[in-house]
Amino acid sequence: MSAINLLMDTLALRPTYRRPIWVMRQAGRYLPEYRAVRQQHSFKVMVETPDIATEITLQPVRRFGVDAAIIFSDILVLLEALGVSYEIVEGQGPVLARSVRTAADFASLSTEPVTDSLGYVYETLSMLRKELPPEVALLGFAGAPWTLASYIIEGGNSRGGFPAIHALLDSDPPLFGKVMDRITDGVIDHLKAQLSHGADAVQLFDSWAGMLNAADFRRAALPYLLRIAKAMKDDPVIYYPKGAGQWLTREEVTKFSIIGVDSRQSLAFYREKFGPDFVLQGNLDPAIMKTDARTIRLEARAVLDSHGPGPGHIFNLGHGITPDVPPDHMQALVDAVHEHTFKDTT
Ligand code: CP3
Repeated sequence: MSAINLLMDTLALRPTYRRPIWVMRQAGRYLPEYRAVRQQHSFKVMVETPDIATEITLQPVRRFGVDAAIIFSDILVLLEALGVSYEIVEGQGPVLARSVRTAADFASLSTEPVTDSLGYVYETLSMLRKELPPEVALLGFAGAPWTLASYIIEGGNSRGGFPAIHALLDSDPPLFGKVMDRITDGVIDHLKAQLSHGADAVQLFDSWAGMLNAADFRRAALPYLLRIAKAMKDDPVIYYPKGAGQWLTREEVTKFSIIGVDSRQSLAFYREKFGPDFVLQGNLDPAIMKTDARTIRLEARAVLDSHGPGPGHIFNLGHGITPDVPPDHMQALVDAVHEHTFKDTT
């Protein structure tokens, strides 16, 4: 019998005997084995060395038995391929070498294909493909254009809001459009290259989509997303619009294979909004992961019940797992989801 890949079956809306689960940021600082490697190397060295990135990607698969591996990389690698290098600074998050706010800044971006300088990502995926058992799906990813633009225009993390990107959007819409178009082309090339090097599906992280109101989401983010959806209409793409799922229509989301939702609304809400013939991913509140095993089991059950027994649900958190979560809690979550089976399916 050929191996069952629950994530790929779910993607095809086939009924499965249980839900597949993986967790955003599942390879990261909450794992002692991650911290042990991190003590020896900088974040960038880890990301850019295929042996190390492969090992880190596999850590949560080995420890917890999750149903998908997401490549250990970062959304910022694409900005570096566009000519703006990054650094992850302890306690501060991402810092970029410069910001892109003027026509001159834009002209100084690289015009080489992004895939030329991202070979380490594709090599890691090829290594992972060989290491992973066939029942574990392999995921690649990229940042969505708006989220990447917020980093490149602000010049680093956007915890202080988005003054520069809003200023550019209003003062020079054509330049904003050029920056977005360049990023969008890079995203498409990077996602396609990941699929051709062994990724089963790719996730588009729009972590800052929720900073936009409905009108700005439509004008500053959506056109570029729809361009990606069109270029990748035959590829499995998970779109994760953190904090903006409510701005999307059924017609828009169905251009992607899967929609990843945060924890603000129930899965039942999204199921009703988007219809039965569409795959949802999510959406346990990451804060629950800090409580205790019993609460995690109960809350996981509530998420499963909120979706109900129909096909098309990939279990995940509503956002990334945080560094302060005890690994035992992650195991409790994976076990709870694995133990929840559906009788009528194989
Ligand atoms: O999910 C996974 O396990 C795969 C690896 C992954 C990382 N970053 C590793 C990482 C993924 C999918 C990302 C995506 C990413 N990176 C996003 C979108 C997801 C989200 O959380 O919304 C964003 C916005 C980034 C940018 C980024 N990279 C930030 C904000 C930070 C700092 C985090 C912090 O809290 O300091 C990073 C660094 C980073 N990327 C770490 C990891 C494990 C921590 C690095 C360290 O060890 O110091």
